[in-house]
Amino acid sequence: MISVPSHIDGLIAYNPGKTVAEYQQEFGFTQKAVLWNNENNLGVPQGAKDAITRVLDEMSFYPDPMSFELKKALATWVGVEVNQINVENGSESILANIFKGFVGQGENIVTSQGSFVSVYVWAKSFNIETKLAPLNADYGFDLDAMLGLIDDQTKVVYICNPNNPTGTMISDEELQAFMQKVPKHILVVVDEAYYEYAKEIRSDYPNSVLYEDERIITLRTFSKAFGLAGARLGYAIAHPKLIEVLNKVKMTFAPSNITQAAGLGALNDQGFLEKTIQLNTDGMAYMKSALDKLGVYYADTAANFLMLDLKTEEKAVKITQTLQKQGVFVRWLKAFGLSHCIRVSVGLPEENEYFIRRFSEVLAEN
Ligand SMILES: Cc1ncc(COP(=O)(O)O)c(C=O)c1O
Repeated sequence: MISVPSHIDGLIAYNPGKTVAEYQQEFGFTQKAVLWNNENNLGVPQGAKDAITRVLDEMSFYPDPMSFELKKALATWVGVEVNQINVENGSESILANIFKGFVGQGENIVTSQGSFVSVYVWAKSFNIETKLAPLNADYGFDLDAMLGLIDDQTKVVYICNPNNPTGTMISDEELQAFMQKVPKHILVVVDEAYYEYAKEIRSDYPNSVLYEDERIITLRTFSKAFGLAGARLGYAIAHPKLIEVLNKVKMTFAPSNITQAAGLGALNDQGFLEKTIQLNTDGMAYMKSALDKLGVYYADTAANFLMLDLKTEEKAVKITQTLQKQGVFVRWLKAFGLSHCIRVSVGLPEENEYFIRRFSEVLAEN
């Protein structure tokens, strides 16, 4: 047998279990609510569909390795220069590239428990030590505890804002104070995967790009509000010197020409984005009011999902499994270290209503 380094051997390959189609075949439900991945259930923006159609015949050629048109459009969208943008196959790829490009042997990263699992996995796959602060009592990041973990070997601090899976947010004031205390040689990654939602939900939500801080890499994605999770497109915004490093370690021909076109098309479809935000505002109000009536605790969210605290692991598993058989797909948060919690995304109105109906029934039985 070929030997594998121990830090890779210790990893567990991602195994999401059965697909929605497989569950449907097994249990025969006729209605469903797919609310387990914080996707945009409104679908794909028409602007992206039209743009993809126009480039289909280019698929026999490699894409523009510089993604120039897309980066130009993104630079305008964000309000920065083109050399401050890096694009890749999803923001998760950029996260991996940050570890690849910036973290040397023996250096560590600091972040929180109960955050985006891919951070822990990618750090481990690069054999990087991860130092984790506990979440605070409200399921938010404890920035002081994170500061306390920083040592001479710390290279990167990862902040997820709003945080997946809790939905909790760090305010502008908190982030500014934190940046003042972080040592100058440390790279701060601010993952804003849910930026488009958060800025509508909370007026004190910080746009970390506006800090113009040479230590910050801001991550954003087309997988959430832009409705392109399957296209795999994410981007980073940072000082040109940091972007240069990311450009050095990126895959040569990523993202694909279809994906680059989809991103451009989505950016031009402002109507889709507005509809998406409205859907989330209305759906979130409905979900919160229904959960309040049921007396279920949820963390204060600035995203398109809610984390429900069901008090025990047993209850969280049972409810998740029962719902699945009825066509309601929510995420049990064991992999995030929150095994007594589940996460539910806001979907279409009929999906939200179906979730609440089935959830109420199963809650009454457990
Ligand atoms: C906080 C956070 N960052 C990044 C991602 C991954 O985004 P992408 O699809 O761009 O790789 C997700 C997806 O769930 C996320 O929740």
